[in-house]
Order: sequence, then C-alpha cells, then structure tokens
Amino acid sequence: MNRTVYVNGDYLPEEEAKVSIFDRAFLMGDGVYEVTSVLGGKLIDFDGHIARLQRSCNELDLTNPLDREGWLHIHRELVERNAIDEGLIYLQLTRGAPGDRDFAFPPASTPPTVVLFTQAKPGLADSAQAKTGIRVIAIDDLRWGRRDIKTTQLLYPSMGKMMAVKAGCDDAWMVEDGFVTEGTSNNAYIVKGNRIVTRQLSSDILHGITRAAVLRFAREAQMEVEERPFTIAEAQAADEAFITSASAFVTPVVEIDGTALGGGKPGPVAARLREIYLDEMRKAAI
Ligand code: PDD
Repeated sequence: MNRTVYVNGDYLPEEEAKVSIFDRAFLMGDGVYEVTSVLGGKLIDFDGHIARLQRSCNELDLTNPLDREGWLHIHRELVERNAIDEGLIYLQLTRGAPGDRDFAFPPASTPPTVVLFTQAKPGLADSAQAKTGIRVIAIDDLRWGRRDIKTTQLLYPSMGKMMAVKAGCDDAWMVEDGFVTEGTSNNAYIVKGNRIVTRQLSSDILHGITRAAVLRFAREAQMEVEERPFTIAEAQAADEAFITSASAFVTPVVEIDGTALGGGKPGPVAARLREIYLDEMRKAAI
C-alpha cells in the first residue's frame, strides 16, 4: 500500500514512517487515540473527537500539542493525499520518547509523538453488517478502571474480539458485576418497545462520540432513552439490540450469547437510528 501517513510534522510514505523504540506508548501503553470516520471525503463529528482527545489528555496530564485547527488541517490533508472517500482516520498521541525507560513521567518538555494514518473502507456506510446484524458473546470485563480515557491499552479488547471470533461470532459484550459495560470497541444498547436502554456515562465505559449523537437523535425522534445498566438476560429478552461507534455507526445485534433477538433479523429501531445518524452526520460533516 502506498499510503501517506503523518508522523511528528511530516507527511511520509508509510514505509518511511518511524517511531522510537523508547516511545512511551510502545513501552507503557502511555498514549491516547481517536478514530474519526470519513464519508464522502468529509469528517464525521470531528469536533466531538477532538474534544474527547483533549479530555483524555487532561485526565493523563498529557500536553495536547495542537489546537483544533492544527488537527483539522492534518486530517484534511490525509484525506486529500490518500483520496479517501469512505474510511477512517486514526490519530495517536503519546507521551513521547524520553530516551530511556522509567515509570515516572518524563519532563513535560519531552516532545510528544503524533501519528495519524488513514484506512480506506469503501462501503463503510452501506456495510453488510448493517443489513445482517452481528452476533455477540458475553465475556467478563477485565479492563482497567479508567475506560473513559481513550488510551492505546487495547490488549483486553483485542483478546475479547478473538474470543468472539473463536466462538464463531463478531464481537463480545463485556460484563462487570452482572451488568453489561460495552462492546470491545463500541457502546451497547437494547430496545424494549419504544425505549432504548444503554449504560450511563461513568469511568466504566468510553464516552462514545457516536453514542452522544445517536441518543440526541433518538430523543428528537420521540424515542424514550433510559441510561442505566442492563444484564445479558435482559438483553436476551429485548426486542432489539445494537452497537454504536465511529466505525460501525449504528449496527444491529441479532444474537447475544447464543440467543437470537427478533428472530435473528435486524430490528426497525436500529435501522431507523442508523438512517437518521448517517443523514444528519453527512449534512454536518466538514
Ligand atoms: N472504538 N467503547 C469502546 C471501548 C471503544 O473503543 C469505542 C470506539 C467506543 C465508541 O466510541 P465512538 O462512538 O466515539 O467511536 C465505545 C474505536 C472506533 C476504535 O477503537 O477503533
């Protein structure tokens, strides 16, 4: 692939892009990230992602080296240089490479590492999974206690995804103290009648940018939204279920831990929310 990527101020062919072996994200998982989708060559909910990046930085005492305009310029430049029509922009910011390994944070003057790259995803909006729905398994949530910070420590979510793949499914919903937290890389919802239920925001889950938009659209469409924890048993007895993320938008869930929902077919609420989300976000894309 001859992609152009961004590393610390330079746009480079991907094979020329390099990061130090002393980078704090490589040695300690000391980095944060964002994933922003691109539809029709434009950025979806860019401001939401940049606001969350700032929040992640604040929570970790990590200096954000760029302002909104700086980040926007790099995102747009990468979309243009890689001719992305539908796809994702990955942004990673780390505490830099102090030149040795130490548990203490390096001086704040240590330059951060900034990496951005594109992933072309033709058919992202018109995905097969949106039509068929996905199947999830339930697993214990064994992640750390600050899931509201979008860090690059993704080993357990990655293990969870592999547990799902080995079980012949698409993803895993994580469960803590009997209640669903979220999916490995998405927020989780169930639908009963006209009511959408999803876990409330706290340090137990990532504060999804797609979640915020979808809940706003649901309320505007006169759907009831209840933000509270739910169990796998309640989910299995629901009319519908779905997930949201910047890469999945709204994707129906048709099976939870071996139990089919809605006869194994995607339901109308998820379909409607996906349509509203894509329509509205395309209009607001920049
Ligand atoms: N994942 N929960 C987790 C644990 C996530 O990793 C993500 C996003 C979400 C949804 O957040 P948003 O709507 O802001 O994308 C919820 C991204 C897409 C990823 O890691 O690729």
